[in-house]
Amino acid sequence: MTGFSHKHSMNKREVLDMETKKRIFSGIKPSGELTLGSYMGAIKNWVSLQDEYECLYCVVDMHAITVRQVPADLRRRSLEQLAQYIACGLDPEKNIMFIQSHVPQHAELSWVLGCYTQFGELSRMTQFKDKSQKHADNINAGLFTYPVLMAADILLYQSDLVPVGDDQKQHVELCRDIASRFNFLFPDTFTMPEPFIPKMGARIMSLGAPDTKMSKSDPEGCVILMDKPEDIMRKFKRAVTDCESAVRFDKVNKPGISNLLTIYCAATGKTMEEAEAEFADKGYGVFKPAVGEAVVELLRPIREETTRLLTDKAYLESIYKEGAEKASYLANKTLRKVYKKVGFVPRG
Ligand code: TYM
Repeated sequence: MTGFSHKHSMNKREVLDMETKKRIFSGIKPSGELTLGSYMGAIKNWVSLQDEYECLYCVVDMHAITVRQVPADLRRRSLEQLAQYIACGLDPEKNIMFIQSHVPQHAELSWVLGCYTQFGELSRMTQFKDKSQKHADNINAGLFTYPVLMAADILLYQSDLVPVGDDQKQHVELCRDIASRFNFLFPDTFTMPEPFIPKMGARIMSLGAPDTKMSKSDPEGCVILMDKPEDIMRKFKRAVTDCESAVRFDKVNKPGISNLLTIYCAATGKTMEEAEAEFADKGYGVFKPAVGEAVVELLRPIREETTRLLTDKAYLESIYKEGAEKASYLANKTLRKVYKKVGFVPRG
């Protein structure tokens, strides 16, 4: 139990878990409201993995400023996002939940890893290419080196598993490349992380344009966790489909219907076969509101619990403070090791 004695308040069970369970790290940017896509692609899995793994779930605010943010909104959304993590079913007693900027080791490791990442590798990242097109007036260095910070997030905690949606797979793969390059030069530094991508819901598409990913930047095509039932129903009733009438999964020819079926399955826990059978003889006029209803029922308790938690700022503060202390303790162990390996003089 070495090292757990100083100011950090871990009890014996936590210490034991740290030493025996495999580790998870994941995070979401508070650059917009939390969406149904993030819930189905990431958070749903986080909840299902929390008993089996030692988990760190982070509000990655440092990633959010790679695109311009209104400071007051960023602050509000960061807290709201933490409340939503809890409202979605993450138990603060079981998981380390914290805010990225509270743990400075993320930025410190990121600098070192940046010196072991190639310009060409970062240039190939599809998210960088997309975002620099979207924000052509602000292609800042942070947007470019973003995947290095993400690699630091993951490697800092010696994470085994990284539950994310499909769009983050390339970044996790780059993280693995950085880790193996570093481990080749300096053996036994980092655990090699694996992406963990859900079978159902890894890529939820926009309701308005089912050939593009559902994202916070597209309000009508996107359901946010705090949407009111009437807004959810409106968005689903207006969802783009096709000119046939059959409710069947066919991603290529029926992207809208396939997306709605995926959402329905992820919301209800039904299999694709069950969902197709349920709507086999029904038209889109029945199917679309049924998906809306399923999402309303899924999100209702989350919205209500978030609203309740947001009235208790002291409680939320206690969670992120304790989370940052625990995370920082773990992060320091890795950072010290890395600093030593690359040849920095120890502080003594
Ligand atoms: P972010 O904030 O864009 O998205 C958060 C998580 O939600 C998933 N996701 C989706 N899944 C399915 N369908 C969608 N439409 C959809 N939209 C978003 C994302 O795949 C992601 O898992 N770089 C990351 C945040 C990050 C991170 C990390 C993740 C920073 N450091 C370390 C894991 C580990 C991002 O921008 O995710």
